[in-house]
Amino acid sequence: EEKAGVPLRPPVVALMGHVDHGKTSLLDAFRGSALTEAEAGGITQTIAAFTVDAQTERAITFIDTPGHEFFAAMRQCGASATDVVILVVAVNAGVQPTTVQAIEYARELRIPVVVALNKIDRDRSASAAQRVAAQLLEHGLQVESFGGDAPLVGVSALHRLHLDELREAVLLQAEMLELHAETEGPAEAIVLEASHHKGLGSLAALIIRRGGLRVGDAFVVGTTYGRVRSILSETGERLRCATPSMAVRIAGMKELPSAGDELLVVPSEARAREVAEYRQLQAELQLLETAGGRRIVRRDQ
Ligand code: GTP
Ligand code: NA
Ligand code: MG
Repeated sequence: EEKAGVPLRPPVVALMGHVDHGKTSLLDAFRGSALTEAEAGGITQTIAAFTVDAQTERAITFIDTPGHEFFAAMRQCGASATDVVILVVAVNAGVQPTTVQAIEYARELRIPVVVALNKIDRDRSASAAQRVAAQLLEHGLQVESFGGDAPLVGVSALHRLHLDELREAVLLQAEMLELHAETEGPAEAIVLEASHHKGLGSLAALIIRRGGLRVGDAFVVGTTYGRVRSILSETGERLRCATPSMAVRIAGMKELPSAGDELLVVPSEARAREVAEYRQLQAELQLLETAGGRRIVRRDQ
């Protein structure tokens, strides 16, 4: 899609909300998969991201976040890469602590919110929707039917009800944001998670923020570095290049980076190594300072 000659990028949309309100089920419904079945205890413990309908005007990158209170840092990391939040609220449970936390992230980061009132197969009544809207208002989120900016769409992830309406609402929010793709200059990406893979070594799940990330590019990420050996789409397809907003996995890092680390493409692997080593040194100095400080405190006691 083009607007005044500048290409637009797909929106990066975080599914946020309280534990078991149906975030992963919604993602499953959007991509026609069954991630929830593979989860230990049905609890999301990592951040997953998928670009659906890539290369079309309706492309969206979804980030699934864990609802459990234990994973607050992970939610924050997801929010930092996000253009639009889908706030998932189960109609039968209403607003819960993680719902409130998500409202606060969105407000702080000025990210528009679309409310997905989920599990409407359990309760389709207008009064239930009103009740949740009133609870949201108490926490400063004003939905459209209450005169605010946030669309609220009743859905059922399980029965695949009104998912197109939800998607339209998200795409409309994205359109208003005019998300121009910055394709020039060295690629930048944010790490959502990293893990060791038997065949491929260190693998990092990334969202591309700007530029085009290509196989062969040298990069620094956190305190490690490398050269892009392969780029995989979330369906396992090998790609030569990843463009802004795309969710991909890459192999080629020397060590595992951390969630939240930024990846930056640099002119050469030698340069990447230099920057990474400098950052490692900084981190070690920081650690020494902290340890030293503690020792002094102990001596005083
Ligand atoms: P965490 O990742 O643990 O925070 O949970 P989640 O928000 O990802 O919820 P999840 O998708 O794991 O769904 C929790 C439970 O709700 C599962 O048993 C789902 O089958 C069920 N569920 C999800 N969507 C619906 C729905 O639309 N209707 C009904 N009745 N159940 C649903
Ligand atoms: Na769950
Ligand atoms: Mg989940």
